[in-house]
Amino acid sequence: MSLIDKIRAKASANIKKIVLPEGDDDRTLRAAEILVNEKLANPVVLGDPDAVAKRAAELGVSTNFAISNPTTSADTARYAELLFELRKAKGLTKEAADKLALDPMYHGILMVKAGDADGLVSGAVHTTGDMLRPALQIIKTKPGMKLVSSSFLMDCPDKSLGEDGLLVYADCVVVPNPNSEELANIAVAAAETARVLCDIKEPRVAMLSFSTKGSADHELVTKVRDAVEIAHTLAPDLILDGEMQFDAAIVPEIGASKAKGSAVAGRANVLIFPDLQAGNIGYKITQRIGKASCFAVLQGLAAPCNDLSRGCSVEDIVNTVAMTAVQCLSK
Ligand code: ACO
Repeated sequence: MSLIDKIRAKASANIKKIVLPEGDDDRTLRAAEILVNEKLANPVVLGDPDAVAKRAAELGVSTNFAISNPTTSADTARYAELLFELRKAKGLTKEAADKLALDPMYHGILMVKAGDADGLVSGAVHTTGDMLRPALQIIKTKPGMKLVSSSFLMDCPDKSLGEDGLLVYADCVVVPNPNSEELANIAVAAAETARVLCDIKEPRVAMLSFSTKGSADHELVTKVRDAVEIAHTLAPDLILDGEMQFDAAIVPEIGASKAKGSAVAGRANVLIFPDLQAGNIGYKITQRIGKASCFAVLQGLAAPCNDLSRGCSVEDIVNTVAMTAVQCLSK
Protein backbone atom coordinates (compact mmCIF):
# COMPACT_ATOMS: atom_id res chain seq x y z
CA MET A 1 0.00 0.00 0.00
CA SER A 2 1.35 3.48 -0.87
CA LEU A 3 1.93 6.10 1.81
CA ILE A 4 -1.14 8.08 0.83
CA ASP A 5 -3.36 4.97 0.74
CA LYS A 6 -2.28 4.18 4.30
CA ILE A 7 -3.02 7.75 5.37
CA ARG A 8 -6.46 7.64 3.70
CA ALA A 9 -7.24 4.34 5.46
CA LYS A 10 -6.35 5.86 8.84
CA ALA A 11 -8.44 8.95 8.13
CA SER A 12 -11.51 6.94 7.23
CA ALA A 13 -11.20 4.89 10.41
CA ASN A 14 -11.29 8.12 12.46
CA ILE A 15 -13.58 10.62 10.73
CA LYS A 16 -12.64 14.22 11.60
CA LYS A 17 -14.38 17.53 10.94
CA ILE A 18 -12.17 19.61 8.66
CA VAL A 19 -12.91 23.19 7.57
CA LEU A 20 -12.39 24.16 3.93
CA PRO A 21 -12.63 27.98 3.88
CA GLU A 22 -12.37 28.35 0.10
CA GLY A 23 -15.98 27.60 -0.88
CA ASP A 24 -15.62 29.78 -3.96
CA ASP A 25 -13.04 27.40 -5.44
CA ASP A 26 -14.30 24.66 -7.79
CA ARG A 27 -11.60 22.16 -6.75
CA THR A 28 -12.58 22.59 -3.12
CA LEU A 29 -16.23 21.74 -3.91
CA ARG A 30 -15.22 18.66 -5.89
CA ALA A 31 -12.87 17.59 -3.08
CA ALA A 32 -15.59 18.05 -0.44
CA GLU A 33 -17.92 15.75 -2.36
CA ILE A 34 -15.21 13.08 -2.64
CA LEU A 35 -14.32 13.37 1.06
CA VAL A 36 -17.92 12.60 1.98
CA ASN A 37 -18.42 9.87 -0.63
CA GLU A 38 -15.19 8.12 0.33
CA LYS A 39 -15.83 8.67 4.05
CA LEU A 40 -12.45 10.32 4.60
CA ALA A 41 -13.65 13.33 6.63
CA ASN A 42 -16.63 15.52 7.43
CA PRO A 43 -15.77 18.68 5.48
CA VAL A 44 -17.33 22.02 6.36
CA VAL A 45 -17.15 24.33 3.36
CA LEU A 46 -17.32 28.07 4.10
CA GLY A 47 -19.31 30.29 1.77
CA ASP A 48 -22.76 31.51 0.84
CA PRO A 49 -24.89 28.32 0.67
CA ASP A 50 -26.87 29.60 -2.32
CA ALA A 51 -23.75 30.47 -4.29
CA VAL A 52 -22.09 27.16 -3.35
CA ALA A 53 -25.22 25.18 -4.32
CA LYS A 54 -25.49 27.04 -7.65
CA ARG A 55 -21.85 26.48 -8.55
CA ALA A 56 -21.97 22.85 -7.38
CA ALA A 57 -25.00 22.23 -9.63
CA GLU A 58 -23.14 23.76 -12.57
CA LEU A 59 -20.19 21.46 -11.86
CA GLY A 60 -22.41 18.41 -11.34
CA VAL A 61 -21.15 18.13 -7.77
CA SER A 62 -23.50 16.94 -5.07
CA THR A 63 -23.66 19.23 -2.01
CA ASN A 64 -23.59 16.29 0.37
CA PHE A 65 -21.26 18.28 2.68
CA ALA A 66 -21.89 20.90 5.38
CA ILE A 67 -21.79 24.56 4.29
CA SER A 68 -21.40 27.41 6.75
CA ASN A 69 -21.69 31.08 5.95
CA PRO A 70 -19.45 33.36 8.06
CA THR A 71 -21.69 36.33 7.19
CA THR A 72 -24.84 34.82 8.71
CA SER A 73 -23.50 32.17 11.11
CA ALA A 74 -24.75 32.41 14.69
CA ASP A 75 -21.17 31.58 15.76
CA THR A 76 -19.52 34.60 14.15
CA ALA A 77 -20.09 36.92 17.14
CA ARG A 78 -18.57 34.31 19.47
CA TYR A 79 -15.55 33.93 17.17
CA ALA A 80 -15.10 37.71 17.00
CA GLU A 81 -15.07 37.88 20.79
CA LEU A 82 -12.60 34.99 20.97
CA LEU A 83 -10.34 36.71 18.43
CA PHE A 84 -10.54 40.02 20.27
CA GLU A 85 -9.60 38.35 23.59
CA LEU A 86 -6.66 36.54 21.95
CA ARG A 87 -5.27 39.55 20.10
CA LYS A 88 -6.25 42.68 22.06
CA ALA A 89 -2.86 42.75 23.78
CA LYS A 90 -1.39 42.98 20.27
CA GLY A 91 -3.51 46.02 19.54
CA LEU A 92 -6.48 44.40 17.76
CA THR A 93 -9.67 46.43 18.29
CA LYS A 94 -13.13 44.89 18.71
CA GLU A 95 -14.21 46.48 15.42
CA ALA A 96 -11.29 44.89 13.60
CA ALA A 97 -12.01 41.51 15.26
CA ASP A 98 -15.68 41.73 14.19
CA LYS A 99 -14.56 42.31 10.61
CA LEU A 100 -11.89 39.58 10.61
CA ALA A 101 -14.32 36.97 11.99
CA LEU A 102 -16.30 37.38 8.75
CA ASP A 103 -13.24 36.59 6.65
CA PRO A 104 -13.47 32.89 5.72
CA MET A 105 -9.80 32.23 6.54
CA TYR A 106 -10.00 33.78 10.02
CA HIS A 107 -13.48 32.32 10.55
CA GLY A 108 -12.20 28.83 9.75
CA ILE A 109 -9.16 29.16 11.98
CA LEU A 110 -11.42 30.43 14.79
CA MET A 111 -13.72 27.41 14.33
CA VAL A 112 -10.71 25.19 14.99
CA LYS A 113 -9.50 27.31 17.91
CA ALA A 114 -13.00 27.20 19.47
CA GLY A 115 -13.05 23.39 19.14
CA ASP A 116 -15.93 23.50 16.64
CA ALA A 117 -13.79 21.74 14.03
CA ASP A 118 -10.77 19.45 14.26
CA GLY A 119 -8.59 20.99 11.56
CA LEU A 120 -8.43 23.17 8.46
CA VAL A 121 -7.10 22.93 4.91
CA SER A 122 -6.70 25.99 2.72
CA GLY A 123 -4.43 27.51 0.09
CA ALA A 124 -6.05 26.58 -3.23
CA VAL A 125 -6.74 30.30 -3.59
CA HIS A 126 -4.87 31.99 -0.72
CA THR A 127 -1.09 32.31 -0.46
CA THR A 128 0.92 30.41 2.15
CA GLY A 129 1.35 33.63 4.15
CA ASP A 130 -2.43 34.38 4.08
CA MET A 131 -3.10 30.99 5.61
CA LEU A 132 -0.11 30.79 7.95
CA ARG A 133 -0.39 34.17 9.62
CA PRO A 134 -3.85 33.64 11.22
CA ALA A 135 -2.91 30.08 12.14
CA LEU A 136 0.27 31.29 13.87
CA GLN A 137 -1.55 34.16 15.59
CA ILE A 138 -4.60 32.19 16.76
CA ILE A 139 -3.91 28.45 16.91
CA LYS A 140 -0.31 28.94 18.11
CA THR A 141 2.16 26.15 18.81
CA LYS A 142 1.34 22.95 20.64
CA PRO A 143 2.71 22.52 24.17
CA GLY A 144 6.43 21.80 24.12
CA MET A 145 6.85 23.18 20.58
CA LYS A 146 8.44 26.58 20.10
CA LEU A 147 8.01 26.78 16.38
CA VAL A 148 5.68 25.97 13.51
CA SER A 149 7.45 24.49 10.51
CA SER A 150 6.69 21.96 7.78
CA SER A 151 7.62 18.54 6.55
CA PHE A 152 7.42 17.13 3.06
CA LEU A 153 6.72 13.41 2.91
CA MET A 154 8.66 12.16 -0.10
CA ASP A 155 7.53 8.79 -1.48
CA CYS A 156 10.41 7.81 -3.77
CA PRO A 157 10.30 5.13 -6.48
CA ASP A 158 13.70 3.85 -5.26
CA LYS A 159 12.62 1.72 -2.30
CA SER A 160 16.22 1.34 -1.08
CA LEU A 161 16.14 4.97 0.10
CA GLY A 162 15.17 6.00 3.63
CA GLU A 163 12.34 3.91 5.05
CA ASP A 164 11.24 1.71 2.17
CA GLY A 165 11.45 4.69 -0.19
CA LEU A 166 10.02 7.21 2.28
CA LEU A 167 11.99 10.31 3.24
CA VAL A 168 10.78 13.20 5.39
CA TYR A 169 12.23 16.61 4.43
CA ALA A 170 12.06 19.72 6.67
CA ASP A 171 11.61 22.64 6.61
CA CYS A 172 10.61 23.42 3.03
CA VAL A 173 7.76 25.95 3.58
CA VAL A 174 7.75 28.09 6.71
CA VAL A 175 10.92 29.29 8.46
CA PRO A 176 13.12 31.20 6.00
CA ASN A 177 16.39 31.27 7.93
CA PRO A 178 16.24 29.22 11.14
CA ASN A 179 18.88 29.73 13.82
CA SER A 180 20.42 26.69 15.55
CA GLU A 181 17.69 26.45 18.16
CA GLU A 182 14.96 26.72 15.54
CA LEU A 183 16.71 24.13 13.38
CA ALA A 184 16.81 21.76 16.36
CA ASN A 185 13.08 22.33 16.91
CA ILE A 186 12.37 21.61 13.26
CA ALA A 187 14.31 18.33 13.54
CA VAL A 188 12.36 17.15 16.59
CA ALA A 189 9.04 18.10 14.98
CA ALA A 190 9.93 16.33 11.70
CA ALA A 191 10.79 13.14 13.59
CA GLU A 192 7.33 13.29 15.19
CA THR A 193 5.73 13.83 11.76
CA ALA A 194 7.64 10.78 10.46
CA ARG A 195 6.18 8.69 13.30
CA VAL A 196 2.61 10.00 13.02
CA LEU A 197 2.11 10.19 9.25
CA CYS A 198 4.64 7.73 7.85
CA ASP A 199 4.49 5.10 10.60
CA ILE A 200 8.28 5.29 10.83
CA LYS A 201 8.98 3.62 14.16
CA GLU A 202 12.62 4.69 14.26
CA PRO A 203 13.19 8.13 12.78
CA ARG A 204 16.89 8.58 11.94
CA VAL A 205 17.49 12.29 11.53
CA ALA A 206 20.33 13.78 9.46
CA MET A 207 21.16 17.46 9.92
CA LEU A 208 22.28 18.42 6.43
CA SER A 209 25.13 20.71 5.46
CA PHE A 210 27.79 21.09 2.79
CA SER A 211 30.19 19.60 5.36
CA THR A 212 30.33 16.12 6.87
CA LYS A 213 31.67 15.86 10.41
CA GLY A 214 34.09 18.73 10.21
CA SER A 215 35.16 18.37 6.58
CA ALA A 216 34.59 22.13 6.18
CA ASP A 217 34.49 25.07 8.53
CA HIS A 218 32.18 28.03 8.06
CA GLU A 219 29.62 29.89 10.15
CA LEU A 220 26.86 28.12 8.15
CA VAL A 221 28.30 24.77 9.22
CA THR A 222 28.63 25.91 12.82
CA LYS A 223 24.92 26.73 12.81
CA VAL A 224 24.08 23.12 11.90
CA ARG A 225 26.64 21.68 14.33
CA ASP A 226 25.15 23.74 17.16
CA ALA A 227 21.67 22.60 16.15
CA VAL A 228 22.80 18.97 16.55
CA GLU A 229 23.88 19.69 20.13
CA ILE A 230 20.62 21.47 20.96
CA ALA A 231 18.50 18.71 19.39
CA HIS A 232 20.29 16.11 21.55
CA THR A 233 19.30 18.04 24.66
CA LEU A 234 15.71 18.57 23.44
CA ALA A 235 15.21 14.90 22.50
CA PRO A 236 17.94 12.76 24.07
CA ASP A 237 16.44 9.48 22.77
CA LEU A 238 16.11 10.66 19.17
CA ILE A 239 18.59 9.09 16.73
CA LEU A 240 20.03 12.24 15.17
CA ASP A 241 23.42 13.13 13.77
CA GLY A 242 25.24 15.76 11.73
CA GLU A 243 26.44 17.84 10.30
CA MET A 244 26.48 15.76 7.13
CA GLN A 245 26.16 16.06 3.36
CA PHE A 246 23.12 14.73 1.54
CA ASP A 247 24.99 11.76 0.04
CA ALA A 248 26.55 10.86 3.39
CA ALA A 249 23.04 10.85 4.85
CA ILE A 250 21.38 8.51 2.36
CA VAL A 251 24.05 6.39 0.64
CA PRO A 252 25.32 3.61 2.96
CA GLU A 253 28.84 3.35 1.47
CA ILE A 254 29.38 7.12 1.52
CA GLY A 255 27.94 7.41 5.03
CA ALA A 256 30.29 4.65 6.21
CA SER A 257 33.36 6.33 4.75
CA LYS A 258 32.56 9.97 5.61
CA ALA A 259 30.85 9.50 9.00
CA LYS A 260 32.20 6.24 10.40
CA GLY A 261 30.22 4.89 13.35
CA SER A 262 27.25 7.24 12.85
CA ALA A 263 23.86 5.66 13.61
CA VAL A 264 22.32 7.92 10.97
CA ALA A 265 24.78 8.29 8.10
CA GLY A 266 23.80 6.22 5.07
CA ARG A 267 20.44 5.26 6.55
CA ALA A 268 18.69 8.55 7.33
CA ASN A 269 14.93 8.67 6.83
CA VAL A 270 14.44 12.28 8.05
CA LEU A 271 16.50 15.02 6.40
CA ILE A 272 16.75 18.50 7.93
CA PHE A 273 17.84 21.24 5.56
CA PRO A 274 19.78 24.21 6.92
CA ASP A 275 17.37 26.84 5.57
CA LEU A 276 14.23 27.32 3.51
CA GLN A 277 16.09 27.89 0.23
CA ALA A 278 17.89 24.55 0.52
CA GLY A 279 14.75 22.72 1.71
CA ASN A 280 12.45 24.11 -0.93
CA ILE A 281 14.94 23.50 -3.75
CA GLY A 282 15.75 20.04 -2.37
CA TYR A 283 12.16 18.80 -2.33
CA LYS A 284 11.51 20.10 -5.84
CA ILE A 285 14.61 18.33 -7.19
CA THR A 286 13.50 15.09 -5.53
CA GLN A 287 10.00 15.53 -6.97
CA ARG A 288 10.95 16.56 -10.50
CA ILE A 289 14.15 14.62 -11.15
CA GLY A 290 13.75 11.85 -8.57
CA LYS A 291 10.08 11.35 -9.58
CA ALA A 292 8.97 11.20 -5.94
CA SER A 293 5.37 11.83 -4.92
CA CYS A 294 5.37 14.52 -2.27
CA PHE A 295 2.91 15.60 0.39
CA ALA A 296 3.33 18.72 2.54
CA VAL A 297 2.15 19.21 6.11
CA LEU A 298 2.61 21.86 8.76
CA GLN A 299 3.94 20.67 12.10
CA GLY A 300 4.04 22.20 15.56
CA LEU A 301 0.57 23.84 15.52
CA ALA A 302 -1.70 23.17 18.50
CA ALA A 303 -4.35 21.94 16.04
CA PRO A 304 -3.63 20.77 12.51
CA CYS A 305 -4.05 23.31 9.72
CA ASN A 306 -2.52 22.67 6.33
CA ASP A 307 -1.63 24.68 3.31
CA LEU A 308 -2.16 23.80 -0.35
CA SER A 309 -0.32 25.00 -3.40
CA ARG A 310 -2.44 27.32 -5.56
CA GLY A 311 -1.75 24.91 -8.42
CA CYS A 312 -3.22 22.02 -6.43
CA SER A 313 -5.50 19.39 -7.93
CA VAL A 314 -8.73 18.04 -6.44
CA GLU A 315 -6.77 14.94 -5.41
CA ASP A 316 -4.17 17.11 -3.61
CA ILE A 317 -6.96 18.67 -1.53
CA VAL A 318 -8.44 15.27 -0.68
CA ASN A 319 -5.01 13.94 0.31
CA THR A 320 -4.18 16.99 2.41
CA VAL A 321 -7.48 16.69 4.26
CA ALA A 322 -6.72 13.01 4.94
CA MET A 323 -3.28 13.93 6.31
CA THR A 324 -4.82 16.67 8.45
CA ALA A 325 -7.32 14.17 9.86
CA VAL A 326 -4.50 11.78 10.75
CA GLN A 327 -2.57 14.60 12.43
CA CYS A 328 -5.67 15.25 14.56
CA LEU A 329 -5.18 11.79 16.07
CA SER A 330 -1.92 12.83 17.71
CA LYS A 331 -2.99 16.27 18.93
N1 ACO B 1 6.28 29.47 14.41
C1 ACO B 1 5.50 29.97 15.39
N2 ACO B 1 5.08 31.25 15.40
C2 ACO B 1 5.51 32.06 14.40
C3 ACO B 1 6.34 31.61 13.37
C4 ACO B 1 6.72 30.24 13.40
N3 ACO B 1 7.48 29.71 12.46
N4 ACO B 1 6.58 32.64 12.51
C5 ACO B 1 5.92 33.71 13.00
N5 ACO B 1 5.27 33.34 14.14
C6 ACO B 1 4.36 34.15 14.93
C7 ACO B 1 4.99 35.42 15.44
O1 ACO B 1 5.61 35.20 16.67
C8 ACO B 1 3.79 36.32 15.53
O2 ACO B 1 3.08 36.02 16.69
P1 ACO B 1 2.37 37.21 17.51
O3 ACO B 1 1.70 38.10 16.49
O4 ACO B 1 1.40 36.50 18.40
O5 ACO B 1 3.47 37.92 18.22
C9 ACO B 1 2.91 35.87 14.37
O6 ACO B 1 3.31 34.54 14.06
C10 ACO B 1 3.04 36.72 13.14
O7 ACO B 1 4.42 36.88 12.94
P2 ACO B 1 5.04 37.85 11.89
O8 ACO B 1 6.50 37.89 12.09
O9 ACO B 1 4.27 39.12 11.89
O10 ACO B 1 4.65 37.09 10.58
P3 ACO B 1 5.40 37.17 9.28
O11 ACO B 1 4.89 38.32 8.53
O12 ACO B 1 6.87 37.03 9.46
O13 ACO B 1 4.89 35.84 8.60
C11 ACO B 1 5.30 33.64 7.87
C12 ACO B 1 5.21 34.56 9.09
C13 ACO B 1 4.06 33.84 7.02
C14 ACO B 1 5.36 32.23 8.30
C15 ACO B 1 6.59 34.04 7.11
O14 ACO B 1 7.68 33.56 7.84
C16 ACO B 1 6.67 33.51 5.73
O15 ACO B 1 6.15 34.14 4.83
N6 ACO B 1 7.34 32.33 5.55
C17 ACO B 1 7.59 31.77 4.25
C18 ACO B 1 6.29 31.28 3.65
C19 ACO B 1 6.48 30.96 2.22
O16 ACO B 1 6.25 31.78 1.35
N7 ACO B 1 6.89 29.73 1.97
C20 ACO B 1 7.13 29.23 0.65
C21 ACO B 1 5.91 28.59 0.17
S1 ACO B 1 6.26 27.61 -1.20
C22 ACO B 1 5.63 26.12 -0.86
O17 ACO B 1 4.82 26.02 -0.03
C23 ACO B 1 6.09 24.92 -1.53
